[in-house]
Amino acid sequence: MKPTSKKKIRRGYRGQTLSAKSSLCSLDMGVSVLPQSSMAFVKVASLSRLAPGSVMEASAGGDYYAICNVEGRISALAGTCPHRGGPLGQGAIHGGNLVCPWHAWEFDCRTGAHDYNPGLTVSTFPVQVSGDDILIDIP
Ligand code: FES
Repeated sequence: MKPTSKKKIRRGYRGQTLSAKSSLCSLDMGVSVLPQSSMAFVKVASLSRLAPGSVMEASAGGDYYAICNVEGRISALAGTCPHRGGPLGQGAIHGGNLVCPWHAWEFDCRTGAHDYNPGLTVSTFPVQVSGDDILIDIP
């Protein structure tokens, strides 16, 4: 039997499924609500390898994160861009924003909010720095 409709499935750069709806309205990527009891701080990076004004990609628990250093303030965002699934951890820092390397969408490193559409966000994660270790609170 032939399907009656074709559903377009978009994929991010790691093959994850993205919303088939308008990407400007897509809030299904990088947004998560987590029960407090399931979270734990995990080392994801070394502070000595993250100079001020830079971002690095980290992975933990099968997910990717963008670890940002804005003038010494460390923050962690989900590593997949809600636009088309670009690798945010391979982007750049512009002012206090993280810039996606694919189409230059920018997100506030502290809040995860898109610079032109604050209703569009990527998840942020609590960060601890212990000595040279950068730890983030992940599910
Ligand atoms: S994938 Fe297009 S701006 Fe990030």
